[in-house]
Amino acid sequence: MITQKTINEVMNTAKVEEVVSDFINLKRRGVNMIGNCPFHDEKTPSFTVSPSKNIYKCFGCGKGGDPVRFIMDHEKLSFPEAIKFLASKYRIEIEETENTAEEIQQKQVTDSLYIVNEYARDYYENVLFNRAEGKAIGLSYFKERGFRESTIKKFQLGYATEERDEFTRKAIEKKFNIDHLHSLGLTTKSDADFFRARVIFPIHNISGKVVALAGRTLSSDKKQPKYINSPESEIYNKRSVLYGLYFAKEQIRKEDECILVEGYTDVITLHQGNISNVVASSGTSLTKEQIKLIKRYTPNIKIIYDGDPAGIKAALRGLDLILESDMNVKLVLLPDGHDPDSFLAAKGTEEFLSFLKKNEEDFVFFKTRILLGEVENDPIRKTIVIRDIVGSIARIPDNFKRALYVKQCSTMLELSESMLNNEVNKVVKSELKSKIDSSHQKDQTSQTGNEEEWLNAKQILSENGPMLVLNDAWQEKTICDIIINYGHLWYDETENTTIADFILDNTLDLLTYFDVEMYKKILVSVSDFRLSGSKTSHSWFTSHADDEIREFAISALSTPYVYASWEKREMFLQTQKMPDENYIRDATNAILRLQLKKSKKVIDELKHFFDNAKPEDIETEEYILNLKVLQVVQNQRNELAAKLGTVIY
Ligand code: GTP
Ligand code: MN
Repeated sequence: MITQKTINEVMNTAKVEEVVSDFINLKRRGVNMIGNCPFHDEKTPSFTVSPSKNIYKCFGCGKGGDPVRFIMDHEKLSFPEAIKFLASKYRIEIEETENTAEEIQQKQVTDSLYIVNEYARDYYENVLFNRAEGKAIGLSYFKERGFRESTIKKFQLGYATEERDEFTRKAIEKKFNIDHLHSLGLTTKSDADFFRARVIFPIHNISGKVVALAGRTLSSDKKQPKYINSPESEIYNKRSVLYGLYFAKEQIRKEDECILVEGYTDVITLHQGNISNVVASSGTSLTKEQIKLIKRYTPNIKIIYDGDPAGIKAALRGLDLILESDMNVKLVLLPDGHDPDSFLAAKGTEEFLSFLKKNEEDFVFFKTRILLGEVENDPIRKTIVIRDIVGSIARIPDNFKRALYVKQCSTMLELSESMLNNEVNKVVKSELKSKIDSSHQKDQTSQTGNEEEWLNAKQILSENGPMLVLNDAWQEKTICDIIINYGHLWYDETENTTIADFILDNTLDLLTYFDVEMYKKILVSVSDFRLSGSKTSHSWFTSHADDEIREFAISALSTPYVYASWEKREMFLQTQKMPDENYIRDATNAILRLQLKKSKKVIDELKHFFDNAKPEDIETEEYILNLKVLQVVQNQRNELAAKLGTVIY
């Protein structure tokens, strides 16, 4: 492991403008620098670099971060890899701690599993190109399918002979461990070769390592499965691998779109035809993990379908999962009897691409159209279809997108927009409610239960604002904006108090009343950090290990306050000074406002208690205590309101 000292040194040394300009041209614009974003296609530059804050932010695609994040995203490196990259740029010596014996052993095991798989890949590749059986059967099969030799080499295809255990014997001769051969599934329990008389397709992970192999039979025996795959192992989790991603990732990022097909050969043929932003789910339906992988490179996914109508209907259901993760999904249906491989071979790249362009359709509209096609004026069937579509739309997390779909689909379904909207909102609400209820139950049964889902649901609830409860998200956000922008500055230098301390002192006891978990998380994290005696800084936030905090911080630092929005939100700024010079009064006002909001919550809670109290409760300690608390909080609230110069509502 790289030591914290080295990490700090790299972070303190790396200058964002120097790191970024190794890759793109930057021009000065005021205090910032600006250039064309390397993460999406653009003609007018919106990629902004702030040397003083040591961050970058693209106002086109929203990507942003510190120098380390830039290297991670641009070069597709992990955090430690990016630190090493920058250390070498700035000639910083890397200090590493010793790994524990357990870590070393674990790493040795996975390393050797990769080595075994790579041996197998090389072995089968060699058979394909250099052995008579390989050449006569495997190679000629690939060539007949139109694969060029360079394509075969790129995808590292191979051939396994019919022999019972030739591969296994040779591997053991080479001193490979039989246990590893077993756990990777290359060798069966009875020590025979798993792949026999099949052409071999190595399956790579995102960094190009071979995690598994697939073998296609060349016999027409229908009892044989067409494809067999390595079983899951310590290095192969089939839910989180996409075939071809290693070869496609650059192009997916460039085109800002990922094409999804079903089969290994589809991927290979499309690559060969210069369409290389293509991956395959390998015959199974797409998983959450795979969607996450794609989302690292693009939010746009285009699925090419070659199924029959029944297959399409079944597949449509699985696709709601993609909507849920806020991706834009398009579908293209190929003409009957064709898969992408055969269609491209028949038509050529140009015609293939123009077919996609002409026939691609938004997933939700596609689904609506396909399902409606079967209704035939039957009202019951139509109701079922509407329910189905409503279910899909309700899964889209983005409010605006949802509204657009409602509008368009209401026309297609011949329903009024408000009616459809109502139905969608009902589903959204009831799903949130059941999420919350079920995690409540979890909370009660296990102390350590995973809170995440409940937090998420609660957050969606509050972010949905007007549709559901009105909340204090805006006040909480303002507090966090200020702590990120100005938390490190002095509130009172003689007292050694920073703005962050001032905010924490006044808000920590209100955290339980926070509506948005992320804002709570930010304050808790700052508080923990202050306890260790260190002061926060812009870079502490922008390199935060928590993705959400980091991303929020980047936007908070790159979006200046605008007076108009403060006034609109009735923030009652009384001076016309820029907020930058005014952080103490901003912090004070924001805290007062938050306290006012939260005191209203406490008062509502207490009122609820009194509304539900029974006559006999009046003598109880709790009742008397709550009465006192109510008085105190009400007084506080009047004071707060007076300070803020607002009326109580
Ligand atoms: P070719 O027939 O060689 O063109 O392959 P294909 O990819 O067109 O095959 P098909 O359309 O039948 O299947 C699509 C994908 O489903 C394949 O690429 C495999 O990933 C997967 N698949 C197909 N048959 C099997 C099978 O018998 N077992 C397993 N595990 N996967 C299969
Ligand atoms: Mn095919």
